[in-house]
Amino acid sequence: MGKEKITIVGSGNWGSAIARIAGNNVKQNPDMFDEQVKMWVFEEEFEGKKLTEIINEEHENRKYLPGVALGENVVAIPDIGEAVKGATVLIFVMPHQFLVKTLDQMEGKVTKGIRAVSLAKGVEVNGSDIKLFADIISERLEISCAALSGANIANEVARDRFSETTIGVRKKEDGDMWKKLFTTPKFRVSIVDDVAGVSLCGALKNIVAVGSGLADGLEWGNNSKAAIMRIGLMEMKSFCQEFFEGVKEETFLEQSAGVADVITSCLGGRNMKVATAFVKEKRSFEELEKEMLNGQKLQGIHTAKEINTFLKARNRVDAYPLFTNVYRICWEGKPAEELTDGL
Ligand code: NAD
Ligand code: 13P
Repeated sequence: MGKEKITIVGSGNWGSAIARIAGNNVKQNPDMFDEQVKMWVFEEEFEGKKLTEIINEEHENRKYLPGVALGENVVAIPDIGEAVKGATVLIFVMPHQFLVKTLDQMEGKVTKGIRAVSLAKGVEVNGSDIKLFADIISERLEISCAALSGANIANEVARDRFSETTIGVRKKEDGDMWKKLFTTPKFRVSIVDDVAGVSLCGALKNIVAVGSGLADGLEWGNNSKAAIMRIGLMEMKSFCQEFFEGVKEETFLEQSAGVADVITSCLGGRNMKVATAFVKEKRSFEELEKEMLNGQKLQGIHTAKEINTFLKARNRVDAYPLFTNVYRICWEGKPAEELTDGL
């Protein structure tokens, strides 16, 4: 069997942090992996220069992960067809709102039967229908797709501060390749057979993190924040068990993708920080995202809306009061002070 050829589809804050890890690890395992890691970059100008040129010349994504060396074997490519050509492993890592459009551009360009993993935290909702991105990727490209999620604030992982992550796989035997690609002494990887649980925890915790930020904006203190984390985790679990079969109980409490990601996102994530500013500064999320995140994207406010659309279609809004209050505060002008109503 030939060597695995890696392409990363996406190049934002987390995409760049994971590119650094994959770039280093392929060099540690030369029998298994080709040395070059390709990274598809949604091209843009940064400080008067193309971002791909900056990455390829300076080996740093100065816009989305400044101050971190990516490795010379990570090659930025603006054309998606060229980036995925010949790849045997795809790592999908972009804000979830762009994933389906990106898949449209990939159709017919990817070798069928290869392996992929989705690092995007979000779900796709169409009325009463909800889908995991790992499933959409599998179906659209006729490939097998795992899901990676955990307590992984990118700026910390990129600086080798100890973190853990969870990968939900469909075939146990794929676990070894994913571990070799992502594990470092400071980044611990657990393999579980729960693609749905891992994917849904990653998506839903972003709503909880927005809730935590709203509480911070109101200066409610740590007890309130802990309560939001606990209630949020319970709503995440109920949602998974109500609408998805086979989600494992252990994913919520024993895996980084569950409780640990709720904690880190509620303490230090972008969703939390921007939601705090939303309450304190009384400005729109759109404006605050632009000003505070320099092109990085919020997921939680969109997921709150998508989950609300789904729950309305299923007549189950009242069963998820935290998810619903977060949605109403972000999108319908409900006062933030009413965050805990009905909990
Ligand atoms: P990001 O928030 O840095 O978003 C910026 C990226 O979006 C850039 O690469 C930009 O080129 C791209 N982009 C903008 N418009 C686009 C378009 N129209 N089409 C395609 N791409 C476009 O991205 P990120 O931090 O890498 O996050 C990707 C996913 O990983 C998200 O779902 C996020 O929740 C998840 N995640 C992020 C972190 C983190 O700490 N940043 C950690 C774990 C998981
Ligand atoms: P934010 O998108 O809120 O920064 O969360 C990052 C994350 O998913 C940490 O695990």
